[in-house]
Amino acid sequence: MSASYELRGNVAVITLDNPPVNGLGYATRVGITDGLARAIADPAVAAVVLTGAGKAFSGGADIREFGSPKAIAEPNLLSVILALEASNKPVVAAIHSVCMGGGLELALGCHYRVAAPGAQISFPEVKLGLIPGAGGTQRLPRVLGVETALNLIVSGETVKSELLAQLPGQKLFDKLIDGDLMAGALAFAAERAGEVAQGAPLPLVRNLKVAHPNADAYLQFVRNTVGAMSRNFPAPLQCVEAVAASLKLPFDAGMRKEREIFLALMMTPECKAMRHVFMAERATSKIPDVPADTPTRAVAKVAVIGAGTMGGGIAMNFLNAGVPVVMLEMKPEALDKGVATIRRNYEAQVRKGKLKQDKLDARMGLLATTLSYADLADADLGVEAVFEDIAVKEQVFKQLDAVMKPGAILATNTSTLDVNRIAAFTKRPQDVIGTHFFSPANVMKLLEVVRGEKTAKDVLATVMQLGKKIKKTCVVSGVCDGFIGNRMIEQYSRQAGFLLEEGCTPEQVDKAVEKFGFAMGPFRMGDLAGNDVGWYIRKRRYVEKPNLRYSKTADLLCEMGRFGQKTGAGWYDYVPGKRDAIASQVVNDMIAKHRAALGITPRKISDDEIVHRLVWALVNEGAKIVEEGIALRASDIDMVYLTGYGFPLHRGGPMCYADTVGLFNVVQAMKRFQRNPHDDAAFWEPAPLLARLAAEGKTFS
Ligand SMILES: NC(=O)c1ccc[n+]([C@@H]2O[C@H](COP(=O)([O-])OP(=O)(O)OC[C@H]3O[C@@H](n4cnc5c(N)ncnc54)[C@H](O)[C@@H]3O)[C@@H](O)[C@H]2O)c1
Repeated sequence: MSASYELRGNVAVITLDNPPVNGLGYATRVGITDGLARAIADPAVAAVVLTGAGKAFSGGADIREFGSPKAIAEPNLLSVILALEASNKPVVAAIHSVCMGGGLELALGCHYRVAAPGAQISFPEVKLGLIPGAGGTQRLPRVLGVETALNLIVSGETVKSELLAQLPGQKLFDKLIDGDLMAGALAFAAERAGEVAQGAPLPLVRNLKVAHPNADAYLQFVRNTVGAMSRNFPAPLQCVEAVAASLKLPFDAGMRKEREIFLALMMTPECKAMRHVFMAERATSKIPDVPADTPTRAVAKVAVIGAGTMGGGIAMNFLNAGVPVVMLEMKPEALDKGVATIRRNYEAQVRKGKLKQDKLDARMGLLATTLSYADLADADLGVEAVFEDIAVKEQVFKQLDAVMKPGAILATNTSTLDVNRIAAFTKRPQDVIGTHFFSPANVMKLLEVVRGEKTAKDVLATVMQLGKKIKKTCVVSGVCDGFIGNRMIEQYSRQAGFLLEEGCTPEQVDKAVEKFGFAMGPFRMGDLAGNDVGWYIRKRRYVEKPNLRYSKTADLLCEMGRFGQKTGAGWYDYVPGKRDAIASQVVNDMIAKHRAALGITPRKISDDEIVHRLVWALVNEGAKIVEEGIALRASDIDMVYLTGYGFPLHRGGPMCYADTVGLFNVVQAMKRFQRNPHDDAAFWEPAPLLARLAAEGKTFS
């Protein structure tokens, strides 16, 4: 039983006990109703206190039961709450630490609530594409008023108990208890029992009135603002409708409305995508042969080699986490420039009110610089971010190997070079690993952790743990050209190039992709990142793969010196000092000329074809990456694309989106693309894993 029962004087204490956060799994729910029945049956019991063991009152639903019959088996949460309401002895929720989702709904079903200060109160359901489904949308407005309740439910944000307790007229908490919560709750429960013995009625949240002085105007205002802010997500607007029901309908009818909305949302692709992402995020840290209890190495000091674009951003991650950094460069000017950029970034945060001056000073105080490798001797981790040139990497890794202490980890930020080859430059290949940060490294969530052939398990475990500490989404990748993200983006970029040759303009492609939900289309993205980066990579890559056809338009663009925003011109024209992309006649003429030289007659290409050639290109390459074991699971690929490449969250990542459309349909589309004489028919042969899953009617997940 995941809830314990104990008698303290004449008060029965039911303690949820389902670590880590007392999720309301089946056994816990049974524990509550059994405990309650026992308390009601025992004449020695006058009142009940319901609380949680350890680190939470309750974090809500038990995610381990998601999708299983146990999640909805009786007594389900609604039934548990009904049982609490029906108790003839007062039930007091003693809330501390964490009280979220179903946990908060449970508390709202009790007659009274007392709370410790600092408890985190929230309804996070909206973040999973849902609304609270066990009365939360009907009861919270009754205790906090419509506006505060709606803010909490629509945002999913966490608010501290003491802040809510200060709100005028709030009825969420009957008492805030500083000090010993259990002692306070027991005393409170005994007092209420005394009152009930005198004939006082037991209060129920459902019986409280909800009102708003300007209900219709307020609701219309909220529908407009929430609708505008939540474009691709249906849940936030449905939160509004559910709360509106609390205002407009009697309690039980409001409950039925809540249920109706909840069940309808469950079936939406957006909700499925968000639940997928929730689980996918947790899955990234699971590495089958590196269990969670694998020992890790202590990392108290980090060396960053190279203070350029990436080195500076990487250093900031560690400084933000309070880890001292020493940065090495070849010349003092480069160090000065790197340090100045870091300081400027922090100063911008201070100006925006996101960072306090004393924090800036503390972080800069953790940063040391050097021109000498000897100064890296006491670092526990070295992250290399020098030029993308294997000869330079060789020189750097040999020096790091010579000076760094035994057991220190040597990481490379290379985007395209072979991590195994880099490891072989040292006498400690087991201590070498790839840490592929994304630009800007202090902002982007994604960290691809590249596991070399010889990378030791504890090195991998250490870097994964450290990645979490610097607040990254860490995804393990095997060694291959481009790792997970860039290997897939190559196919996406090739398709974007073919689309230009066949009749599209850059803006047409970008618009279609952005309408699908990407933060930025491929050409605007190229202009932002610098088209020369891809040019440089293609020069190497397509020498190694002479048979792989790609569109030369991007090379022609670079030959025109149009590297993107940094040169004031790329796929688009730019007005100095502005970032707005303006369609470029020069570029469109260049594309038309190139198209004519290839003998292609332009055709009108639909947005649907544009989007699906790009996205299915990601998926086909992604399927190969899973099959080869480069990615541990398809959902890791989704996390890479969601956190590193601006893939629309409401679609759940490329592999999840393919599952949603149906793999059979994806394969059919690929067969159609194969018949296009200007495309790469060999590439569109569905990857074996994809073909197999489609044939068996299965999904990647
Ligand atoms: N820029 C990106 O978007 C990006 C993204 C992911 C990974 N990367 C990778 O990160 C690495 C660095 O890229 P970047 O964009 O920061 O380059 P960058 O040119 O901005 O910076 C490289 C820095 O390394 C220094 N350097 C070169 N050789 C050195 C040596 N022997 N010892 C010490 N310092 C040396 C240079 O002076 C320069 O300041 C490359 O491997 C690149 O492929 C870049």
